[in-house]
Amino acid sequence: MTDAAQVNADQLAYWNGAGGERWVVEHTHTDVMLAPVAEAAIAHAAPRPGENVLDIGCGCGWTTLALAEAVSPGRVTGLDISGPMLAVAEQRAAGRGAVGWVQADAAAHDFAEDSFDLLFSRFGVMFFGDPVAAFANLRRAARPGARLVFACWRGLNENPWMLLPLQAAQTLVPPLPRPGPEDPGPFAFADTDRVTRILTGAGWTPPRFTKLDVTLDIAGGGGVDAAMDHATRIGAAARLLADQDEAIRQAAKQAIRAALAPHATPDGRVGLGGGVWLVDARNG
Ligand SMILES: C[S@@+](CC[C@H](N)C(=O)[O-])C[C@H]1O[C@@H](n2cnc3c(N)ncnc32)[C@H](O)[C@@H]1O
Repeated sequence: MTDAAQVNADQLAYWNGAGGERWVVEHTHTDVMLAPVAEAAIAHAAPRPGENVLDIGCGCGWTTLALAEAVSPGRVTGLDISGPMLAVAEQRAAGRGAVGWVQADAAAHDFAEDSFDLLFSRFGVMFFGDPVAAFANLRRAARPGARLVFACWRGLNENPWMLLPLQAAQTLVPPLPRPGPEDPGPFAFADTDRVTRILTGAGWTPPRFTKLDVTLDIAGGGGVDAAMDHATRIGAAARLLADQDEAIRQAAKQAIRAALAPHATPDGRVGLGGGVWLVDARNG
């Protein structure tokens, strides 16, 4: 297997296995937490009634359904490699006409050419083994002049919502090896030069980068214990703790709780900063 094929195989296994299952369990919480990003990214994409939209790596479908409302009577396709996450999306969409779901790898799916006016993603495009090939495949599905708009994380240091729990967990567990600059993962698109190289290499216009700074309620309104649970299921601390024994996990949870408690407010929120790029480019 080539490196890229191996990465894709690993991602397929992860999002259909433990990773996807954790996103399913946490999906309502995560959608509350990431709502400020969804709102800003959709506003940035400016979807118009009648447009045909692709939501890449749509996960449990929140943004797909929001886009469907915005483009009605147009149509939105939510595409994802994760069966468990798409099952949630389909359930949520029951009774809504203008959405469709495809379980496929965005990098390799045989899209009908010139189909979409807008290709959108919230955090679903940083996991490709060969990103240039993946974005070239997506471009084939784009109509001439179509917009590509996605949200991706800036660096870990600009994302205290992920950094704080990770640092607390690392008081008990040694850090994982740092990912290489070309490795997929949540921070794989933090470097604007790299993203520019990938998108222009795939034939898109040179992208624009808009900084978005948001406060993310990592408790999803459920208080500091909910924030602690979420941080140990999704994100960098969760990955660090995944293979640890139960005693260490419990100790790390308490360390995370102590780090988050000062940020809790009486309304059940735990607000921490998130640093995002809104990226947009065009097909020609
Ligand atoms: C961080 S989650 C974001 C999910 C969703 N967009 C959201 O904001 O809630 C990343 C998503 O990308 C999907 N994904 C990863 N690689 C993919 C690929 N090659 N093709 C399609 N989806 C992919 C995962 O299954 C997962 O649902």
